[in-house]
Amino acid sequence: MNRHKAVIISPSLLSADFSRLGQEVSDVENAGADWLHVDVMDGIFVPNLTIGPLVVSAIKKVARIPLDVHLMIMDPGRYVADFQAAGADILHVHPEATQHLHRVLGQIREYGMKAGVALNPATSLEAIRHVLPELDVIMIMTVNPGFAGQAFIENMIPKVVALRDMLRESRRDIFIEVDGGVTPHNARRLIESGVNALVAGSAIFGHPPYADAIESLRH
Ligand code: DX5
Ligand code: ZN
Repeated sequence: MNRHKAVIISPSLLSADFSRLGQEVSDVENAGADWLHVDVMDGIFVPNLTIGPLVVSAIKKVARIPLDVHLMIMDPGRYVADFQAAGADILHVHPEATQHLHRVLGQIREYGMKAGVALNPATSLEAIRHVLPELDVIMIMTVNPGFAGQAFIENMIPKVVALRDMLRESRRDIFIEVDGGVTPHNARRLIESGVNALVAGSAIFGHPPYADAIESLRH
């Protein structure tokens, strides 16, 4: 992926108004969003249930920017083909949700998508050390996944720094993304710690106008 100079902003549609999803997508795009973050939950890996490939393909019809799809589902390998068909550009899976992370990441790339992992707050970076060659993006969860609007876990900043150091040492060009509780208050520290992409739900959809909300995360 091309490493932008500016940080990438990926609004989480979980906090959008689902009764006017198409309009919300256009509005955040016009407000300067770089990617669209789509949260898929199965009620088992996380307590909440959200959307599946059908809604992702509806979003794809109106979206002009890449779909950053976050699978919070058990055994995600079962759905790689479905989310590719639905239009995912980046597909994140959780190592805690699969017995065969290496295989699933290979499948994601075989289907032509960028391969991402999302790490729960308690999951060590060791979970991905041996699959770095298979990865395009690593997403550090800065909340426990499942819901929008939760408080940022401060202790994830040293984890981001440790990841940045691990990637420097291994000389891998892999994006660092963070997801959960991102606000203008912590965005600057995250960017300084080496983050390339910020996911934000409530900080954007709960704080219109969206262009100002996005701008205040970037700077
Ligand atoms: C949490 C989701 C996040 C969430 C972010 O499980 O993965 O993407 O929607 O929302 P905020 O930014 O409100 O924490
Ligand atoms: Zn997410």
